[in-house]
Amino acid sequence: MLATSAEDLLIRASVLNPIDAERWDFHRDGGLLIRDGRIAAVGPIERFAGTPASRVLELDGLLVPGFVDVHIHWVQHHVRGRFQMDLMEWLREHIWPEEIGFADPAFARRHAQAFFADLARAGTTMGMAYSSPHAEALRIAADAAIGDWLLGNSIMEKSAPEPLCRASPDNAEQVAPLLQELGRERYAITPRFALNCSAELMRQLGALARRERAFVQTHLAESPNEIREVCAAFPEASDYTDIYDRAGLLTPRTVLGHCIHLSEREYATLAARGAWIAHCPSSNEALDSGLMNLAAVRHHGIRYALASDVGAGPSHSMLHVMQRFLALHRRAGVPVTPQEALYGATLAGAHCLGRGNEAGNFAPGKRADFVLLPKTASTTSPAGWLEELLTGSTAELERRPLQTWIRGEPVDFAALEAATEPA
Ligand code: GUN
Ligand code: ZN
Repeated sequence: MLATSAEDLLIRASVLNPIDAERWDFHRDGGLLIRDGRIAAVGPIERFAGTPASRVLELDGLLVPGFVDVHIHWVQHHVRGRFQMDLMEWLREHIWPEEIGFADPAFARRHAQAFFADLARAGTTMGMAYSSPHAEALRIAADAAIGDWLLGNSIMEKSAPEPLCRASPDNAEQVAPLLQELGRERYAITPRFALNCSAELMRQLGALARRERAFVQTHLAESPNEIREVCAAFPEASDYTDIYDRAGLLTPRTVLGHCIHLSEREYATLAARGAWIAHCPSSNEALDSGLMNLAAVRHHGIRYALASDVGAGPSHSMLHVMQRFLALHRRAGVPVTPQEALYGATLAGAHCLGRGNEAGNFAPGKRADFVLLPKTASTTSPAGWLEELLTGSTAELERRPLQTWIRGEPVDFAALEAATEPA
């Protein structure tokens, strides 16, 4: 029997605890003991015999760790899934003009509040997000964050609409104070992609990232048209990956969105540098960008975590991302399991963001960030149950969580909805 104190809360429910890409622990009648906002213990309910009933919350459903989204554009949330066309056309026609609006702090605040409310509602408790280039919009998002977030203002000094380039830092000295202000656990250096930055700017950003051990996020090899434009702009580089590598931007704290069209040489470079891939299956499907070569990624031992890439991704729901991950790789004949999907949407993301000891599953000592998912018809096996939870439309999946907890406290869904109602 475990000793419990008067402040402890024991939640009795089914519990699914990801361990790695192959394994999870499942307790059909499980207990999760929470103390001071952290996991004190997890296991079959018998382990917790003797806990006073006043400290026990009985819930009907499945507890999983809070979802982690390692690549999402919060400034595109309100236009997610709205336009579907080739990446470069989509950026130029719709997305960049939309991001210009984030120069207005009131607009930014409204959208930041709606974004974080929607993410918490959908069970996402941690992530790394792209902002527009504007420093003030970044600060507004940092203030509005619900959960544990890294944010970076997109650095885009060229090849984009003038108001965005004007708002963007164009040297590392303009980035260092933001990194200082938010701290390396909250601020990610964000050269948007190679087309928007000179080799010299990226070299400065690479040096800053190394000196400060900061996270870097950018896009790599998403669409054939993008690759053509990028490679034409850097004739000295041997390939797209080499552009970032020459700048010193590839480290184990670098998270590269997409990585769909890569050569063997590029996979080997990513593996050697220990960089992470943000795998965005729903976004890649929506823009018809291609399917990331999961077999090659596994073969090279490159680590990846799942991400929505909203607004190219049509939904911020990580349940939807898991659904598309399983469906698309299965359709291509690549074996994937619900275990790998859940790991990719939780613990892999926590490792990717340097928080593997802090969150991502129910290991004792970690922050108590978790989600309650409903019962379904097939609760006989955890794999069947999870697969059934992944069925449905984006709207259904975004509202499937019954409750989200952050640091052991339930998020008030009703208050969030009231606070973000359209004015
Ligand atoms: N490449 C450069 N910017 C973007 C963006 O905002 N979304 C996606 N999907 N790819 C990009
Ligand atoms: Zn992206």
